[in-house]
Amino acid sequence: VFQPGRGAERTFVAVKPDALQRRLLGDIVRRFERKGFRLVAMKLVQASEDLLSEHYFALRDRPFYNHLVKYMSSGPVVAMVWQGLDVVKTARAMIGETNPADSRPGTIRGDFCIEVGKNVIHGSDSIESARREISLWFREDELICWEDHAEHWIH
Ligand code: PPS
Repeated sequence: VFQPGRGAERTFVAVKPDALQRRLLGDIVRRFERKGFRLVAMKLVQASEDLLSEHYFALRDRPFYNHLVKYMSSGPVVAMVWQGLDVVKTARAMIGETNPADSRPGTIRGDFCIEVGKNVIHGSDSIESARREISLWFREDELICWEDHAEHWIH
């Protein structure tokens, strides 16, 4: 069972359909790996409208809501959970601002996209959102507990 603690914070990240169409997945995963975060879950999914309506429940009255759901279901997404010290806040800093035009070079959105409606990646905005989103996209038994494997490592 996952015990939250220092270094055990988790966040939810989704690589969006435009990023997969543009073959950016490897570049994006590489950034989180090199930063030092640990991947604890990852899957390629065609998100259903039901899943997306739950995921974006808080945005249901926004004018861009239908466009957002259509975009997110326009192809598969890669759903991931990353773990590490302050990962929620740090992942958001690595991702950049919602609007790519406000995202600094060096951030994922700052380097890879130009439009808010095709902003290549989602990251949870708080620890509470991360908990909610992780449990929406993953079953508990899909989350790897690396601490349980450490004694079997061969390097
Ligand atoms: S807001 O206005 O503060 O709620 O916006 P924000 O929290 O930054 O964004 C919430 C998600 O909505 C997406 N978004 C948009 N999509 C399409 N068109 C427009 N204009 C637009 N504005 C915001 C934004 O990318 C966020 O989705 P995720 O998946 O979290 O990136």
